[in-house]
Amino acid sequence: MSPVNFDEQINRREVPSLKVHPRIIGEGDVFAAGVADMDFRAPAAVIEALQRRLNHGVFGYETVDDGLMPSLINWLDRRHDWNVEQRSILRAPNILNALAIAASLFTEPGDGVLVQPPVFFDFFDLLKENHRTIISNPLILEGGRYHMDFDDLEKKAADPHCKMIYLCNPHNPVGRVWSAEELKQLGDICGEHKVLVVSDEMHSDLVFKPHRYVPFASLGSNYAQNSITCISPAKSFNIAACCSAFTIIENETLRTAFQVENSRLTVNKNNAFANVAMQAAYEQAEPWLGQVLIYLQANVDLVAERLQDIPGVELIKPEGTFLLWLDFRQLDLSTDQLTDFLKIKAGWAVSRGYAFGEQGRGFARVNIACTRAKLETALGRLEMAVSGLNS
Ligand SMILES: Cc1ncc(COP(=O)(O)O)c(C=O)c1O
Repeated sequence: MSPVNFDEQINRREVPSLKVHPRIIGEGDVFAAGVADMDFRAPAAVIEALQRRLNHGVFGYETVDDGLMPSLINWLDRRHDWNVEQRSILRAPNILNALAIAASLFTEPGDGVLVQPPVFFDFFDLLKENHRTIISNPLILEGGRYHMDFDDLEKKAADPHCKMIYLCNPHNPVGRVWSAEELKQLGDICGEHKVLVVSDEMHSDLVFKPHRYVPFASLGSNYAQNSITCISPAKSFNIAACCSAFTIIENETLRTAFQVENSRLTVNKNNAFANVAMQAAYEQAEPWLGQVLIYLQANVDLVAERLQDIPGVELIKPEGTFLLWLDFRQLDLSTDQLTDFLKIKAGWAVSRGYAFGEQGRGFARVNIACTRAKLETALGRLEMAVSGLNS
């Protein structure tokens, strides 16, 4: 495959892109690094497959192409050493929908659902809107790396009201790619206390060497039987706007209940473009993914290098995802001051840390899936803004 030019500047304002929408980033020339998608064009193989489908011109009701599920099964086996049977896979419109259905089916209003903040903010909104009680098991930051607090997890999982955990594997925003040992420890605690593990594995393909994504359900039958995996190629191939998702549920009782709920809510309708894009991605875009991971790693390295000259801003080294978790606490700004500083002085439209839970105060999540030139400019602006603070 010839090299992909990830340096090409593509004007995202030509379509109603959320990442650069004035409602999200305001007006003016800002570094749009909040919304979690990439500025890069999707893999050529995906675009060509979509064009062929578009050229057909008939968009009546469709079923799923026989090749779609095998494309996912082969992908999981080939890249992640996870052997999944086709009957365990259900379709979902998107990951958040699958998370919401899992909570509404397998917990009651008022029941507790564990989350591990700082964590993807939509977990909080979704649980609140579904009237579930959020139980926090905060991650611990030690020596620049986050890890799980298993003693606290054990205590909270033992609460009879606690029925479920939303696991984020790999973790948005702190960039941890959980190890088999960590996942097993979590799985053993949850298994013992009958806490169902709902594992959001959206970022599974975006992992930097030498780290390795371990699917929670691949750890063994007892882990698979007490879990629901939500997965999608949306982030991996930058196709969020024309993508759907999958739930992988080996436990037959849970799967049947999920299937019945999907039918009741009529979420089974097929979107031809999503199906075509996903299948082409899994079957033909692996070389593109290899290249984008190299580009993203170089962007991470650039940030790490430049931050050495920017006092008071620390990078939490990511093991995966294109989202960086930056620690601004040493700048000694209040939450509002940090928001204004990033937005007004640095021109950075990023995700504010406290949206990921109280533990995120003083941090920000920054999406680095952009051209190197854009990142260079953004880092230059940050450096100037920080030096302005100190002068
Ligand atoms: C961890 C995680 N889960 C889910 C989503 C959203 O998934 P979807 O768009 O399929 O609902 C995101 C998007 O940023 C995410 O980071």
